[in-house]
Amino acid sequence: MALLFKGGRIITASDDYVADVYCENEQITRIEPEIDPGSIADETEVIDATGKYLFPGFIDPHVHIHLPFMGTNAKDDYESASKAALAGGTTTLIEMICPGPDDEPRAAFEEWNNKAVPLAAVDYAFHLAVVRFDELAQQQLVQLVREKGVASFKVFLAYKGALDLSDTDLFRLLQLAKAEGVIVTAHCENADAIDAMQNLLLDAGKTGPEWHEPSRPTTVEASGVQHLATFAELTGAHIYVVHTSCEAALRAAIEAQLRGVHVWVEAVAPHLVLDKTYPERDGFEGAKYVMSPPLREKSNQDALWNGLRAGLVSTIGTDHAPFDFAGQKDMGRDAFTKIPNGIPSIQERIDLVHTFGVLSGKIDLHTMVNACSTKPAQLFGLYPRKGSISVGADADLVVYDPNRSHTLGVATSHSKVDYNGYEGWEVTGRSEIVTVRGQVQARDGAFVGTIGRGQLLKRKPTHF
Ligand code: URP
Ligand code: ZN
Ligand code: ZN
Repeated sequence: MALLFKGGRIITASDDYVADVYCENEQITRIEPEIDPGSIADETEVIDATGKYLFPGFIDPHVHIHLPFMGTNAKDDYESASKAALAGGTTTLIEMICPGPDDEPRAAFEEWNNKAVPLAAVDYAFHLAVVRFDELAQQQLVQLVREKGVASFKVFLAYKGALDLSDTDLFRLLQLAKAEGVIVTAHCENADAIDAMQNLLLDAGKTGPEWHEPSRPTTVEASGVQHLATFAELTGAHIYVVHTSCEAALRAAIEAQLRGVHVWVEAVAPHLVLDKTYPERDGFEGAKYVMSPPLREKSNQDALWNGLRAGLVSTIGTDHAPFDFAGQKDMGRDAFTKIPNGIPSIQERIDLVHTFGVLSGKIDLHTMVNACSTKPAQLFGLYPRKGSISVGADADLVVYDPNRSHTLGVATSHSKVDYNGYEGWEVTGRSEIVTVRGQVQARDGAFVGTIGRGQLLKRKPTHF
């Protein structure tokens, strides 16, 4: 069925105007000041967007759904994650494929994609984590880029013995990425330094979740960024620092930018609105807030918001990594090192950014759209099909009521996780109608779409 959005205030990364938008055959086909209903297909749903914002569908550039990690598996599947994403205005997500050190890249791609195909209700792509780099892995990486449209890799400078990569392999991977035009996303810390710090703290009887942050302080994250940037400078590869949590790491990235290194910076929702007092909460409650890099001193939030406003931070993702409190987070009651890392936020991201970023005056609406939709599309080979409201783009649209308040929490979350890190928070702004390629998939937070309709987005590498 065709869709006509009447009278919405169209907000993109650069524009702000009122117009009607008509969508047919999955795409936006007309944008005009006033579209005459007599000029469109009989079978058209007319959506009154008067007084509301019309945003391009939001893109979450950093999500974990299928995630075997720290001795357990993340709780969501593509059905629950899609529903949560859509309820919060996200229409495309980029998931991290995180294979084990012995797994072949091609098999990992198939494993992750097979999880998505029957259940995805949003469109999706993958960043492929490279955890082995032998001859076979290299051949398969190139194949996946050229044949399956995987245009971004992921490396971990953390999680010793599980996901980390040696410096020799990191260098060679960046060379390969440069040759193929692939951007390399990276978790920047230092696996050995963290391992040593964790052992020191545990030996001293410091076992609670409040010790997670001191085991991987801001200096470790900053040195991880410097380290990666040095390798990028030597190889010419393009890099993207995921979940940047602190001013020190941001400064390291900016220094590299000033040297001419091709480096982009991602912030994620938890670091923008939560601080290190949360993992310090009593009664092991703090385990809900253990993620890596950790939640930091509150002052770092200003640096991240200011970095977004200045264009030094490019994107806002979530790092949605869903683990239950009961049975998963509490595996670490005797040692913080065993608490599965992650804070689910895929449903909450946009309303958190609108409330604590836009309404509090830290960023404007264009920066919000740029960081949460347009820039991820541009960096990861999806633009202008995604991330824009333009004729020919996919009809991924969000009718957003900027004045509607609601309360975040488990009761309204579609994620399968048994807690919500933002429980009871009052936010202002809400996605009312969310479409993916011209089909309404969510209304007022309820899923009304089709499971399995989500498509794998094949991308062309652009980072030569
Ligand atoms: O705490 C986090 N970030 N968990 C997910 C894995 C990762 O490092 O992105
Ligand atoms: Zn990470
Ligand atoms: Zn992550």
